[in-house]
Amino acid sequence: MQPAFRIALPVLLTAGLSACASAPTPRPHTSATPTPTGPVRHAVANLAAASGTLVSGRLLLATESGGVRIRGDIGGLQPGSSHGFHIHEKGDCSAVDASTAGGHFNPDSKPHGRAGMGTHHSGDADNLVADAHGVAHVDAFLRGVDLGAGSHDILGRAIIVHAAPDDYSSQPSGNAGARVACGVIRLVP
Ligand code: CU
Ligand code: ZN
Repeated sequence: MQPAFRIALPVLLTAGLSACASAPTPRPHTSATPTPTGPVRHAVANLAAASGTLVSGRLLLATESGGVRIRGDIGGLQPGSSHGFHIHEKGDCSAVDASTAGGHFNPDSKPHGRAGMGTHHSGDADNLVADAHGVAHVDAFLRGVDLGAGSHDILGRAIIVHAAPDDYSSQPSGNAGARVACGVIRLVP
């Protein structure tokens, strides 16, 4: 019994290693499960000004159990102001008004709403609020999305800050006004 076990273990280890070595490409976007699995993945989004503003910032993203945490600072806002904040479908900030980023990331075809409160887009997040210096300190958790895996992958999509607050109910995007900053979510090597 013991000799058989000693033979089987190296075989299993070898099989596991070769499976990893032969699969260097990201997993295909076909998984139905939105919950991150495996090692923590990190990404960054450098948001540049759009629509003639001076709003910009750098956000760091990391997978956590059940979703993705987004942290960082967005500056150049009016002190005390509130701003819609979402993941948009396309990672294209090239238009002056960032319209090339498309609508809210919505893989489940849900109506727009508030994160954590009934139905909403996967890309919906709570409004940012600027401090007395016009800086919004972002600490958002987006449940049900992932980085680099699955059908709810936000890697390569855009993070957008809006001129006005999201009312969490108007369709299709909360009546949050112009897009004042935009950045593509990129994997940290
Ligand atoms: Cu938006
Ligand atoms: Zn939305």
